[in-house]
Amino acid sequence: MFTVAIDGPAASGKGTISRAIAAHFGFAHLDTGLLYRATGRKTLDGTPALEAAQTLTAEDLQGDALRAPDVAQAASKVAAMPDVRKALVDFQRAFAARAGGAVLDGRDIGTVICPDAEVKLFVTASDDVRAERRWKELTFKGHKVSIEEVLADLRERDRRDSTRADAPMKAADDALQLDTTSLSIEEAVASAVKRIEARQAEL
Ligand code: DC
Repeated sequence: MFTVAIDGPAASGKGTISRAIAAHFGFAHLDTGLLYRATGRKTLDGTPALEAAQTLTAEDLQGDALRAPDVAQAASKVAAMPDVRKALVDFQRAFAARAGGAVLDGRDIGTVICPDAEVKLFVTASDDVRAERRWKELTFKGHKVSIEEVLADLRERDRRDSTRADAPMKAADDALQLDTTSLSIEEAVASAVKRIEARQAEL
């Protein structure tokens, strides 16, 4: 088993880097934000948060609707509830333990879910660059939002995600910090690949 833990704020590039790494090394990939998004989405329909987290199915994790801004906010809110986080731990750890290697990306992977991960990255980028990336993504998918709204939304989520008492977003002490503000996708991925190869050579 070889686990890569990738954490960082919204639209930092961690999702793109995670997918590229999984493809490069043949690792399985879990976007753990989807678990919170799917839980948050159910609460928007009136399902209590804990019940929503406990009854998630593979089907709940599919679909573009999970990317909507109101679902992102709902995800960040349910993610601050300790019972909800607890309900999702076993699934994430079992995923990390699968044979053949796994990449998990989120907020607390290197600190709480997989503190013994072989490689930990903490991916960041400036607020403006993150807002622009997310705005492009949302606009492309047909969401009508301004860049100012996207920026405010990201900042609100970052604040909630990094100040909550349980498993706040933060870099693990042994995480490699990767600032993607002025890196291309290729450069960011290359630097992550290098780190993983170096670690594989050590083991
Ligand atoms: O990565 P994302 O934007 O899809 O995540 C949505 C929300 O879920 C995010 O605002 C915080 C929460 N989250 C979390 O608390 N812990 C994780 N491991 C992943 C996401």
